[in-house]
Amino acid sequence: MSAGKGTWRSRNLYLIGFMGAGKSIVGKILAEKLSRPFLDTDRMVEDKVGRTIAQIFQERGEEYFREVEREVVARATATPQTVVALGGGAILNARNRKAINQSGAAIYLKWEFAQLWPRLVNDRSRPLTLHLKPMEVEKLFNQRKRFYEQADFVIACHEPETPEQIAQKILRSLEVSK
Ligand code: S3P
Repeated sequence: MSAGKGTWRSRNLYLIGFMGAGKSIVGKILAEKLSRPFLDTDRMVEDKVGRTIAQIFQERGEEYFREVEREVVARATATPQTVVALGGGAILNARNRKAINQSGAAIYLKWEFAQLWPRLVNDRSRPLTLHLKPMEVEKLFNQRKRFYEQADFVIACHEPETPEQIAQKILRSLEVSK
């Protein structure tokens, strides 16, 4: 993505990456440290529809979810000086990517799939991992990598790092990019 690393202070910060990367928890910590408001597009979708993500997928399908996701991403990208945790599939949409690029810097929480999978396998709140076989989820991960890798900041994450430590790492990367 092309926000220009040094410009992050006046712009939004977007946490991107695969399911289970910790975007929501790390984003919340980062927002606190930077004294910025925090938005989470999955929670925004749930609030808008009045159903959980799992219910939305089950009752209305993924296409409907993506439509609402586009609406909330448009709202989040129009909210200035915010830290935003994006759902893992949000950056697949070209309109979302453009809005993200234009309004801020993207931060990729990069994990090896082998470290993400154990966090996903028993999680019933994520419809995609619930209905796909492990190899299909890994395929999805590999297909998406090229989009995630375009982030302005790529933060390599490893077990047993905590969300707090990852947030600290992000802050260090932001600082050196001034
Ligand atoms: C999705 C990721 C989920 C949620 C939905 C679809 C995806 O968000 O938006 O289940 O396509 O990767 P998290 O990445 O926060 O789990």
